[in-house]
Amino acid sequence: MGLSFNNSTIDDLKSQINIVDVVGRVVALKRAGANYKGVCPFHNEKTPSFVVSEQKQIFTCFGCGASGNVIKFTQQYYNLDFTEAVEKLGNEYGISIKRSNFDENREKYYEVNKEAARFFYRAFTEQKNAGYTYMKNRGLDDAILKKFGIGYADEKWDSLYNHFKAKGVDEKILLELGLISESKGKYYDKFRNRVMFPIINTSGKVIGFGGRAIGDDNPKYLNSPENKVFQKKNNLYALNISKQDIGKEGYAILVEGYMDAISLYQGGVRNVAASLGTALTENQTRLLKRYTKNVVLSYDADGAGQNAAMRGSEILIKDDCKVKVLHVTDGKDPDEFIKKNGREAFLKLIDGALPYIDYKLRYIRRDMDLSSDDGKIDYIKAAAAVLRDLSPVEADVYIKKLSKELHIAEGAIKMEILGNNSNSSRNGQPAVPQRNHREEVQEEMSSLEASIIKSLMVNPGLTEKLLDYSEIMASTPARKVMDILFELYGLNGDFHMNQLTDRLDPEESEALSNALDKIVIAGNEEQVFSECINTWQRKRLLQQEQDLITRLSLADEENNPDSINQLTLELMEIQKQINSHGGRK
Ligand code: UTP
Ligand code: MN
Repeated sequence: MGLSFNNSTIDDLKSQINIVDVVGRVVALKRAGANYKGVCPFHNEKTPSFVVSEQKQIFTCFGCGASGNVIKFTQQYYNLDFTEAVEKLGNEYGISIKRSNFDENREKYYEVNKEAARFFYRAFTEQKNAGYTYMKNRGLDDAILKKFGIGYADEKWDSLYNHFKAKGVDEKILLELGLISESKGKYYDKFRNRVMFPIINTSGKVIGFGGRAIGDDNPKYLNSPENKVFQKKNNLYALNISKQDIGKEGYAILVEGYMDAISLYQGGVRNVAASLGTALTENQTRLLKRYTKNVVLSYDADGAGQNAAMRGSEILIKDDCKVKVLHVTDGKDPDEFIKKNGREAFLKLIDGALPYIDYKLRYIRRDMDLSSDDGKIDYIKAAAAVLRDLSPVEADVYIKKLSKELHIAEGAIKMEILGNNSNSSRNGQPAVPQRNHREEVQEEMSSLEASIIKSLMVNPGLTEKLLDYSEIMASTPARKVMDILFELYGLNGDFHMNQLTDRLDPEESEALSNALDKIVIAGNEEQVFSECINTWQRKRLLQQEQDLITRLSLADEENNPDSINQLTLELMEIQKQINSHGGRK
């Protein structure tokens, strides 16, 4: 997660630090004309295709496409986020880092959380208490408990509150962090008689807590509420500890629970992080991707866990990760499994984890009866829809597998894949369609996107509305801007242009201001915003209409009355919606 710095800090950094020097410390560079050349540190190569331009202060690899300025290089090379990279460079080159007020204010929140963590830790370690007994009964060693900073919130109503009061800490902060609550003018500790799991981000800041009930109290886990330093959707539990191991192993194991993460870690499977009890989010994926693209999902064995694993893999795949899904065969979750069977057995499960597509195929056929012809046909149709998104080579592998398994000709499966796919019904398409979404990525921001961004800049409150339509931002630069704005808005309920540009590379920043300059918002930005949404929805509907018409004509050729009826109904519905979005214009 990024803090924002004064613009001048970033400028100082960029003007005072020479990228050739920073890169030269870790990559052997040779002068080549006006530039420097070396072997790319971001992919495997023998002949150098990694170029550093002193004049432009950027690096580019013509082999793998990595490129950016000195901050970006530092982020990528050392696995840091923006903030961490700026701090590292600032420290190494003696440039003082100035933060905006809003960030000093956040430091205070981190401090308070850290103090609370210390308080809970002392209660856990310095005298007999129910929390420690509970964790020992669950088989955890002292060293691990210490490593994860596990603590105890006692059963009294005001221990933590009194502790902070004596220190003169403002109640407002404690309330906001969810450490205390207020009733009839009195303050109460929020966490009572619970084992406390501090949640620490990858920069080492305590951002929140999960507190596990020791008895049968409800909820089982009480978590810090969302606040300016804690957003569940942006963080992964234990990643602060495991990020090095993840780098070393070359993959991460994602689990659902705090206990799963700690148990695996203790069991010697250390490249593990937990998703904080929510469905995996895009932001968590992006965070993980700083360390690895390879993920093994190890969720609970029950139906809910398997559904969550399916959704989680889709999110990861969308962000270009390589995903496998592991199924726990003994016990309800990884915690129980490793305690019972040990490390080697768990590593075997990892070896046997199913690649995403295999898992998805198994998932869609879980309730199908493959011994009947109808069942087989249903399965092939559903499987075809999955394979349609694959590259030709990948699809071919699975077509062969399916063909063997179901005793159906490869050609028939290929036909099925092609048959329902309007994209590939054009002439001259390869036998198996190409992966579509990759090719659709646009590099230029559209004026629609720029209009949306401009209305958000005028009225940041509109950001919440955009959440429901985030697909509208399709180009790479617009998506990046949107992500930053979501983050800033999530943190502060507000943002300014300079906070945004702080986070962009200079070229991106310039492209953005050019795009925004072209947009004039005459009058009401809310209206502009909803018109943009409307335009986009209409465009989408028109596209859907085209697809339906193509499919109808195919159904017509095949003389398939059921499909014709069904498609006609769908078409009428879409056309109704097109009319309600302003018609065809
Ligand atoms: P689980 O119920 O699987 O918990 O929820 P667990 O980690 O295995 O814990 P133990 O072994 O029963 O002690 C998985 C995760 O979902 C979130 C927590 O992050 C938990 O680790 N959760 C669960 C909550 O936030 N609140 C709850 O009440 C329950
Ligand atoms: Mn459990």
